[in-house]
Amino acid sequence: MSQDTGTVRAYTGTAKALHWLIALLVLVMLIFGWTLGDLPEKEHIETLVIHSSLGVSVLILMTARLAWRLTHPAPALPADLPRWQVVLSKAVHHSLYLFLFLQPIWGIGQSLFAGFPVSPFGLGPLQIEENEQLFGIFHTAHAVNAMILIALLVLHIPAALYHHFIRKDVVLRRMLPFAKV
Ligand code: HEM
Ligand code: HEM
Repeated sequence: MSQDTGTVRAYTGTAKALHWLIALLVLVMLIFGWTLGDLPEKEHIETLVIHSSLGVSVLILMTARLAWRLTHPAPALPADLPRWQVVLSKAVHHSLYLFLFLQPIWGIGQSLFAGFPVSPFGLGPLQIEENEQLFGIFHTAHAVNAMILIALLVLHIPAALYHHFIRKDVVLRRMLPFAKV
């Protein structure tokens, strides 16, 4: 990933748009994903059309985001930030990238072996054959990955608020759509 640089002050408009669009999609998926298994069959299949379409969109958007990030360096963190916070911040951002990519991949994997149809964008079921064991492995990976994402966000979101309200630096403002830094 490109190095942070002291010469860039804010994230580009594209980076901000991708950050907030993906954040919105992922928060919705994390909140409503757990209710999928409790739905009656008809609603279950219909809701999975929405769930899988949003999830595949996250995968496509993350590919664009990674390509953008590799060619557009992030602004440097404040110079007086303690070293452990710089290290932790980078570790959380890298992990978010990794687990945001893996989440939809596990989702597609479990769909391929599920005994019910999962049809992203209504394009037809993503299905190879019903296989309970492989479905179980991908299903567990998808659920555990979701919990890892929640744990990372429990670090990430309060950290952003800490910068803004306690340290009163530019870190949150430079990711906000209309803020000047
Ligand atoms: C960022 C993307 C995604 C997030 C955050 C997400 C989140 C979740 C969560 C939290 C669950 C509930 C897990 C559980 O009950 O154990 C779930 C279930 C599921 N997801 Fe995803 N998901 C994403 C992408 C996808 C994609 C791309 C697909 C398929 C193409 C998919 C297919 C499924 C299926 C089939 C289930 C299980 C439904 C069931 O057991 O009835 N997900 N997802
Ligand atoms: C599902 C929700 C979210 C995800 C997946 C997410 C993911 C990420 C990732 C991967 C980065 C690193 C960007 C890069 O350098 O390329 C980032 C940066 C950032 N995020 Fe989030 N984020 C989420 C929600 C939020 C929320 C709710 C806030 C504010 C309260 C926030 C504030 C920030 C800020 C301020 C940065 C820039 C940090 C810096 O300048 O070093 N994020 N986010």
